[in-house]
Amino acid sequence: MMPAQDLTARQLLDFYLEAGADALVGEEAVDRFAATDEPAPVRVTRAPLPATATADSLRPLPAIQQAAPQATDDAIMSAREAARGANSLDELRALLDKFEGCALKGSATRMVFADGNPEARVMLVGEAPGRDEDIEGLPFVGRSGKLLDRMLAAIGLDRTSVYIANIVPWRPPGNRTPTPQETQICLPFVLRQIELADPDILICLGGPSAQTLLGIKDGITKTRGRWFTFNSGKRDIRAIATFHPAFLLRSPLQKRFAWRDLLSVKKALAE
Ligand code: URA
Repeated sequence: MMPAQDLTARQLLDFYLEAGADALVGEEAVDRFAATDEPAPVRVTRAPLPATATADSLRPLPAIQQAAPQATDDAIMSAREAARGANSLDELRALLDKFEGCALKGSATRMVFADGNPEARVMLVGEAPGRDEDIEGLPFVGRSGKLLDRMLAAIGLDRTSVYIANIVPWRPPGNRTPTPQETQICLPFVLRQIELADPDILICLGGPSAQTLLGIKDGITKTRGRWFTFNSGKRDIRAIATFHPAFLLRSPLQKRFAWRDLLSVKKALAE
């Protein structure tokens, strides 16, 4: 590859796009062509500063810093408190929109709360919004969403007969996997969302959703197609995990297993 200083801005942007960097996370443009000996600016998470500055707390922070454990615990506590205070899905959406405890909110374009019919008997939960969802503010509207719609149609369902949400309502930059901390911080909201929507059947789309909601360690290949009991806080509901549509787009041969899972859902709805 050409040295960076010989690239045009357009070529450099194309290079970033090809490398998967399709989101802007900084407030100000940085001229990467300008030669400098200055260290790059440090980007830190939103961990609050201690009330009293000590020599230690004033030391420069490392370039990549996880949210401090205490900050994560505090964020989880305030997420729980906020979620508990919601008496309807509209209230929950409003509280989530005001919630400042998850750093993903800062890089996402829009919050992705839900789509479909909150009265539906079936609720599906994915992992996190992708690029298209971040733009539209709705879950599963990109390529994997189109496949999900076809999968649902195969058993006579559509977005008027299902309710769809994600574990994490903000797009992680560049579609990276949400960190365990981000997942734990957002979890109280999706748990309350399930409780308030009160579906008869919960479908976890993909391994991370199944592991987070069903509390299991096994991967999706082992978990899919098995029925679990999920206690929503209100009552026990039936839950099943299946392959994530994004995975099925990459591994179409696995669609036959997803088909079996869908037939199992169809049967359960008829019981
Ligand atoms: N993948 C997900 O898990 N959720 C979406 O909303 C889109 C893609």
